Amino acid sequence: MELEHLKDQWSLIEDTDGVRLSWNVIPSSRLEASRLVVPIGVLYTPLKEKTENSVVQYEPVACKAPCRAVLNPYCTVDVRAKLWICPFCLQRNALPPHYKDIGPSSWPLELSPGFSTIEYKLARPAPAPPIFLFVVDTCQEEDSLKALKDSLIMSLSLLPSTTLVGLITYGTMAQVHELGYTECAKSYVFRGNKDYTAKQVQEMLGLLAPGVRPQGALVMPGQHPQQRMNPSSRFLLPVQQCEIELTNALEQLQKDPWPVANDKRPLRCTGVAMSVAVGLLETSFQNTGARIMLFAGGPSTEGPGLVVGPELREPIRSHHDIERDNIKYYKKAVKFYDTLAKRTANNGHIIDIFAGCLDQVGLLEMKSLANSTGGHMILTDSFTSSMFRQSFVKIFDKDAQDNLLMGFNASLEVLTTKELKVTGLIGHAISMNKKSTSVGETECGIGNTCSWKMCGITPTTSVATYFEVTTQAGPVQHQQQGPQKALIQFLTYYQHSSGQFHLRVTTIGRDLSGPAGDPSIAHSFDQETAAVLMARIAVFKAEVDDGPDVLRWVDRMLIRLCSRFADYRKDDPSSFRLEKNFTLYPQFMFHLRRSQFLQVFNNSPDETAFYRHVLNREDVGNSLIMIQPTLDSYTFDQPSRPVLLDSTSIQPNHILLLDTFFHILIFHGETIAEWRKIGYQDQEGYENFKELLEAPKEDARELIGDRFPLPRFIVCDAGGSQARFLLSKLNPSTTHQGTTWGGVPQNAQTIFTDDVSLQTFMEHLMK
Ligand SMILES: *[C@@H]1O[C@H](CO)[C@@H](O)[C@H](O)[C@H]1NC(C)=O
Ligand SMILES: *[C@@H]1O[C@H](CO)[C@@H](O)[C@H](O)[C@H]1NC(C)=O
Ligand SMILES: *[C@@H]1O[C@H](CO)[C@@H](O)[C@H](O)[C@H]1NC(C)=O
Ligand SMILES: [Zn+2]
Repeated sequence: MELEHLKDQWSLIEDTDGVRLSWNVIPSSRLEASRLVVPIGVLYTPLKEKTENSVVQYEPVACKAPCRAVLNPYCTVDVRAKLWICPFCLQRNALPPHYKDIGPSSWPLELSPGFSTIEYKLARPAPAPPIFLFVVDTCQEEDSLKALKDSLIMSLSLLPSTTLVGLITYGTMAQVHELGYTECAKSYVFRGNKDYTAKQVQEMLGLLAPGVRPQGALVMPGQHPQQRMNPSSRFLLPVQQCEIELTNALEQLQKDPWPVANDKRPLRCTGVAMSVAVGLLETSFQNTGARIMLFAGGPSTEGPGLVVGPELREPIRSHHDIERDNIKYYKKAVKFYDTLAKRTANNGHIIDIFAGCLDQVGLLEMKSLANSTGGHMILTDSFTSSMFRQSFVKIFDKDAQDNLLMGFNASLEVLTTKELKVTGLIGHAISMNKKSTSVGETECGIGNTCSWKMCGITPTTSVATYFEVTTQAGPVQHQQQGPQKALIQFLTYYQHSSGQFHLRVTTIGRDLSGPAGDPSIAHSFDQETAAVLMARIAVFKAEVDDGPDVLRWVDRMLIRLCSRFADYRKDDPSSFRLEKNFTLYPQFMFHLRRSQFLQVFNNSPDETAFYRHVLNREDVGNSLIMIQPTLDSYTFDQPSRPVLLDSTSIQPNHILLLDTFFHILIFHGETIAEWRKIGYQDQEGYENFKELLEAPKEDARELIGDRFPLPRFIVCDAGGSQARFLLSKLNPSTTHQGTTWGGVPQNAQTIFTDDVSLQTFMEHLMK
């Protein structure tokens, strides 16, 4: 219930501006800020869909260089003198001539308080329509390849007709399919075991003479001007022009013809295929929106970027192998894909990775392809699964104007007033190495810049940005208009899928605190957002540090936060009381410690890479479900209700619905399971039992409906093998006595585990 209350409070601000802050009052001195433990941070969803329309069709008014802040509701405007004062650099700027008539009766939207977030649709068109390049692994079982082909063919009908599309297939070798050639199917073949340079790829494809039209190529009416003279137009054509040929090419795709011995893996040159894909787009389409979609049916076993050898008796690396540094190909592969990822990000292109394989495909090694370019990662057992099919279709969702819900080649710039400096960003982005007066001295995540590139961005993409306070303690200024505010402006410039450039501007202001010890800071703590911002830091650290070091860091930060914001008498744990706005935070940290994000040994390295990737792009609400799953209980004659993530919530005559974001699980208590097996639900007089069985299914459907990627759905019974999954998420409270953290009946099902329970954890914390 407490959670619900908090949600209401922040949802309004989140709806207008797509922001949530860990602290909503900004400490007015560096010293005060250093005592907060949890950094000042903003989780920002730049393209958040808004209910009210705040898209305008004119150019923004910006401050003089180098500031370039955009006019916003926090600016002071002098209508008579026709000027405005920039709150970021305090310079005066003349209002542009067409603003000469503004006044109370005609006030520009961007200056109105309700429009702290506004989106400008700019006059500048994108140089080319969006590009989709499919890279398809053909070393697959027939049924999986067939399902994949069907999904790809179907996706052509979801793309706007001007979208450019292309096809690369790979197995032992990689092939680029020529689509502009109608006589017969033609393709360019690359050897799978050769490390081609960018230049070699481009030479082989005949792309090195931009401006020269390939001999005999016709200019099609309606073709984009750039494309008309573009040598790559043999490989990338508007879907309206090549749909039939591409459909044919896909339909005719065969399983890779090279024979594979029983004790071998098929030879797969994923690295070569990807570097050919990147090279194809690099010459002709730099800095214009493009997605490379990789569909991998297994690990790379050949050429640069291989992650496991072709011998089946040689298993693919595990977390234990990595820990013991017993990894043959790992470092070389990571280096290969990291370099490729950097190139792709600098070109402004996106790479999505879809894995359809029971075993690992090397997501761990390849993850930078997606995380540096804002691509998706979807991990499924097979391309026949509905999890793949439905997640894939969702990528092509459109808005009311029939535009794809995705932005391309975006950059995000952060501006701050003098009290604050930005220390970094954690999310799917790379640094643009831009220095400004807003850049902080310390670094958190990707830092030392005020600007980041995000090649791929969707309405749900959320980035964590972190700040430091730089003001030395000084006399507190008492302003007549109330407390002073610290301001942050986010400028997101991107290629909209409609083909125009857009600029989204969000300007937020938060009060600066009063004299030292001002309680308003503590009251402004948003513990949900704080937990999510800390989770992103912990995961970022876990990429480089040892697991135990990261856990120790989480503990240390929690202890410091509690000793700062709790009341207690020394040496008396029972006197421990956290301030009101902090009471749930320790639980969030308890669950974060136990989560798959930091405890990696129950998952494969690919799964860990996938889970972390998704955490790094979701908003506060979704991230919180990943950190602390939700559990609802259903029983006779009662509405369903949320219950504690605790073993005591398992009751024989209850059904539980667990949502971990990645998994949705329905668990039937012992009695329920027995009755269901007997078949009472189909008998007269047991309608309420039938309804009870249906209720959680109904709710599960709703949860699954708007989730991306699609979660795994599990139905299980008490005592069944799948129930382990639920038990692993529950707090092992056993039969602990005398705790204020449960308040639930004591017939607990004992969970055997080495974990400490939340109660023990809290007791240690209090001490
Ligand atoms: C793509 O983004 C880069 C910087 O992030 C920018 O310089 C370039 O102009 C953008 N592309 C186009 C076609 O505007
Ligand atoms: C992206 O992947 C690279 C490794 O390939 C890793 O070093 C980096 O931390 C990841 N970025 C994020 C934001 O997790
Ligand atoms: C924190 O607690 C105070 C007083 O109990 C309350 O007024 C305030 O709304 C809370 N703040 C947040 C961010 O929940
Ligand atoms: Zn300025």
